[in-house]
Amino acid sequence: MQIAIDGPASAGKSTVAKLVAKQLNYVYCDTGAMYRCVTLLVLRRGVAPDDAAAVTALLKDVKISFKPSADGQLVFLNGEDVSLTIRQEDVTNNASAVAAIPAVRTALTDQQRAIADAGNIVMDGRDIGTTVLPHAELKVFMVASVEERARRRFLDNQEKGIDVPVETLEKEIAARDHKDSTRKTSPLKQAADAVLLDTTSLSIEEVVAKIVSLYQERRNIASN
Ligand code: CDP
Ligand code: CDP
Repeated sequence: MQIAIDGPASAGKSTVAKLVAKQLNYVYCDTGAMYRCVTLLVLRRGVAPDDAAAVTALLKDVKISFKPSADGQLVFLNGEDVSLTIRQEDVTNNASAVAAIPAVRTALTDQQRAIADAGNIVMDGRDIGTTVLPHAELKVFMVASVEERARRRFLDNQEKGIDVPVETLEKEIAARDHKDSTRKTSPLKQAADAVLLDTTSLSIEEVVAKIVSLYQERRNIASN
C-alpha cells in the first residue's frame, strides 16, 4: 500500500509520516529532503536558485540516498551525511525556488517513484497525492494555521539554538507556501481524493492515530 501525505510547511508531515511508517513497518520517504539536497548543492556551487539552466546542469552531480537510523532516517548527498545541513535556514528559504524548476521535479519524481516501487511506503511532500503517487490508496492533506506552524518551527529552532523571531518565521512560511502553491509544475494542492486533516489543535499522537485508523479503514475496504 502507498500512503501519501501532503501539505504546507511545518504542518507536521514528516514528524507524523515517520511515526506512521514505524507503526506499520512501512518504508518512509521524505521528498522535501530531496529538494533540500539539490538546493544545498546549488548554494554550495554558487548557482542562483532560480537559474533554471544552471540548476538543471548540476542535476547530474546529485546522488541522494537514505539510511534508516534510530530516530528516523539519515540523508546522504553524494555519500556525505547532510541530514542536519539541509535543515539550515538558507537551504529552507531557497528550496521553493529550486523546486519550481521543471527538470528538478522530473528528476526527483522519477527517483521517488522508484523508491515507492520497492514496497509499502509512506511518502510526504507537496505533490505526492497529485503527481508522484496518484494511485496511492490513502492520501492525506495535512494543514494547520500559519500561526501554529510558525510556533512549531520556533520551538524546533529553540531546541537547535537558532533564534529567529516567530513573526519572521510566519512571513517565511507564508512566502514559501505561496511559491509552492502558485508554481506551474505540480503545485501544492489537495488531491480530489485526499482526506483533509487540520492539525492546528491536535497532538502528534492524535494525528498519527487518525492516519493509522484511516489506513485500517482503507485496508478493510480493499480486502472485502
Ligand atoms: O519541512 P518543510 O515543510 O519545511 O519543507 P520540506 O518538506 O522539507 O520541503 C522543502 C521544500 O521543498 C518545500 O518548500 C517545497 O518547495 C519543496 N518540495 C516540493 O516542491 N515538493 C515536494 N514533494 C517536497 C518538497
Ligand atoms: O514536515 P513538515 O514541514 O510538515 O513538519 P515537521 O518538520 O514534521 O515539523 C512539525 C513540528 O511541529 C515538529 O516540531 C513537531 O514536533 C510539531 N508538531 C507536529 O508535527 N504535529 C502536531 N500535531 C503538533 C506539533
